Amino acid sequence: MRDSVLVVGSGMMGSGIGAMAALAGRKAILLDLDRERAEQGRKKAMDCIRFRADNGLNTEEEAFRAAGLLECSDNLEEACARAFLVIEAIVENVEVKQEMFARLDGMLPREVPICSNTSGLRITDISSKCVCAERTVTTHFWLPAHLVPLVEVVMGDRTDEAVAVRVRDELKTWKKAPVLVKKDLPGQLANRVFQAIIRESIDIVASGLASAEDVDTAISCGMAMRFPVWGPLKHLDAIGLELGLSVQETVLPSISGDKTANDYLKRMVTEGNLGVKTGQGFYDWKERSIEKDMAKRDQFIIEAVKATAKLDSE
Ligand SMILES: NC(=O)c1ccc[n+]([C@@H]2O[C@H](COP(=O)([O-])OP(=O)(O)OC[C@H]3O[C@@H](n4cnc5c(N)ncnc54)[C@H](O)[C@@H]3O)[C@@H](O)[C@H]2O)c1
Repeated sequence: MRDSVLVVGSGMMGSGIGAMAALAGRKAILLDLDRERAEQGRKKAMDCIRFRADNGLNTEEEAFRAAGLLECSDNLEEACARAFLVIEAIVENVEVKQEMFARLDGMLPREVPICSNTSGLRITDISSKCVCAERTVTTHFWLPAHLVPLVEVVMGDRTDEAVAVRVRDELKTWKKAPVLVKKDLPGQLANRVFQAIIRESIDIVASGLASAEDVDTAISCGMAMRFPVWGPLKHLDAIGLELGLSVQETVLPSISGDKTANDYLKRMVTEGNLGVKTGQGFYDWKERSIEKDMAKRDQFIIEAVKATAKLDSE
């Protein structure tokens, strides 16, 4: 019986994805190269489930049920026989993914969607050796997959839109916020926007307009405060498009339109200032703790997810 979500690769991303499937009431199989790694993945998924329940993102009942729905495996053929949806989350290497997709394509009936959690590769290339490439699609979960709601569902050149819509609708039942991306381009959707923000942020620092810390503060304490419920396009509608147009015409000529990375960033890399790992990047990390900042970031995501869920239900 095809009643399971098969997650191929039970590492950092796969374990979070498996946890979300199980919390949605789906049977979830976490598959890895061997039994031991798959079991480690299942344990990590259990930790994700516990973390969500402890922080009020799922009920104890949901967590208890999810724990019983998670299993692990190292037998691809047997797992494929039970899968109604497959999500691949193995290493980010196009040849390795192509080989896995060709195997999955040969083992699964054509109505079973095969998804990749790739962060940067094209699903069109990953599925190039598949006979039924129309059932392949990217499902790009954001790290940490058990906390961040966004999943980018990206169509390849040969993806059937009906399949992408079916996958998106399934993910909606997982407490996810999936978006449909209709072209297979670098950066998918969200990273295209994020890169534009990063480009301007670096340019502001490079030109001496403000410090790195002040750029981050301006974003974190300004626009980011409303982003969970109020995206930039909704903002334009709210202020009036004629005002939005006039601001664009004033500001766009003086902001960065660079098509290559800023020399300032290139120089930092050449000088060995790589950020946290070398102790110096835009910030001096010798006195700061990234672990503390990460814990704060995750706690904020939890509170934002709870707050938006509450507001959406009102
Ligand atoms: N880590 C991130 O921030 C992030 C965010 C979004 C997407 N992604 C993407 O998700 C995918 C997985 O990333 P990750 O960070 O979870 O990696 P990871 O190294 O933590 O996990 C990969 C897992 O896949 C297993 N694996 C490798 N080859 C396999 C095979 N042939 N069959 C079964 N299992 C196999 C490995 O043993 C490992 O457990 C990558 O494509 C990555 O680009 C990562």
